[in-house]
Amino acid sequence: MVSSISHMLLTLLSTSLLLCTYFHFAKAQGGSQPIVHGLSWTYYDSSCPKLESIVRKELKKVFKDDIGQAAGLLRLHFHDCFVQGCDGSVLLDGSASGPSEQDAPPNLSLRAKAFTIIDDLRRRVQNKCGRVVSCADITALAARDAVFLSGGPDYDIPLGRRDGLNFATTSATLANLPPPSFNTTSLLTSLATMNFTATDVVALSGGHTIGISHCTSFTDRLYPTQDPTMDKYFAGTLKSTCPAANSNNTAVLDIRSPNRFDNKYYVDLMNRQGLFTSDQDLYTDSRTRSILSVLTGSQGEIRANCFVRNSDNVALLSSVVEKEKEAWSAF
Ligand SMILES: *[C@@H]1O[C@H](CO)[C@@H](O)[C@H](O)[C@H]1NC(C)=O
Ligand SMILES: *[C@@H]1O[C@H](CO)[C@@H](O)[C@H](O)[C@H]1NC(C)=O
Ligand SMILES: *[C@@H]1O[C@H](CO)[C@@H](O)[C@H](O)[C@H]1NC(C)=O
Ligand SMILES: *[C@@H]1O[C@H](CO)[C@@H](O)[C@H](O)[C@H]1NC(C)=O
Repeated sequence: MVSSISHMLLTLLSTSLLLCTYFHFAKAQGGSQPIVHGLSWTYYDSSCPKLESIVRKELKKVFKDDIGQAAGLLRLHFHDCFVQGCDGSVLLDGSASGPSEQDAPPNLSLRAKAFTIIDDLRRRVQNKCGRVVSCADITALAARDAVFLSGGPDYDIPLGRRDGLNFATTSATLANLPPPSFNTTSLLTSLATMNFTATDVVALSGGHTIGISHCTSFTDRLYPTQDPTMDKYFAGTLKSTCPAANSNNTAVLDIRSPNRFDNKYYVDLMNRQGLFTSDQDLYTDSRTRSILSVLTGSQGEIRANCFVRNSDNVALLSSVVEKEKEAWSAF
């Protein structure tokens, strides 16, 4: 089980490599992959040797007070990378979701607190080392520590990004970030522009193992009619959280372990308890469903029927789902 979880996580992290070309997990992979020119594993070793410990020590304190901030930082890094590469552009005042424009369409609702945390880290690093570390690198390190400190794997990332000079514009932001209402076909099409495979998309979606969402991102699945692919009990819970389509409330993305970076998000999907259309449809669409089933199991399997892979064994799959559902209902 543990090995399959870390496989899933590494897949997720390697997805980030595609995302921003820079983010890397070569050490976890045995250090075999080349890194982007200009980046290095030892970039700040002489100019700011304490960089990584400053970030980790501070984030430990931040997460001790509010582990919810981990998701905010991970999301901030992804959004930075999605729109014109991991260049810190999302942080610029004037960017479509930057600190002064958090109301911008498409309501990215990046947490204001995430920007504050990055700025605080930047100040600490700068006090210690001078203005040598880019905001893009600080954001990437913060995302790494958000994963690790919420129970995910630790991994090394090469550093040496430079901060971009251009804002993340609304049109670039809209063009790059698929909305939660997308089905798998639309999601795959949208992310194919970044050369994401179906496996990459499933792994990237796994980032929803932590974090929260505003009701408006999913109430189209509740009102006026309930999405038939949603578990009825789950829908009832969501309706009480979001009594109206435009409710200002929030719900967690992973009902089983909302603050823990693990594989429960995939278990949610198998139980029809994914929050967004873009989540749940991964289990409806056969192209992604098969990947997802692998990610939730351990490596290999104990076949229930020697002649049928368990993933093809419909009777078995539904009994596993039922068992999980009971476990959740007792919760
Ligand atoms: C988007 O942000 C605006 C401004 O803060 C807010 O009025 C609106 O309700 C938000 N929409 C959604 C869908 O969250
Ligand atoms: C996915 O969404 C697109 C755009 O809304 C729609 O045209 C298509 O029929 C949907 N596909 C499925 C399988 O529901
Ligand atoms: C996607 O792959 C093609 C072919 O390998 C390559 O030319 C293109 O630059 C890639 N796109 C991105 C966004 O990496
Ligand atoms: C959501 O918040 C906005 C601004 O605070 C308010 O105007 C609106 O009435 C609220 N919506 C609901 C459904 O409570």
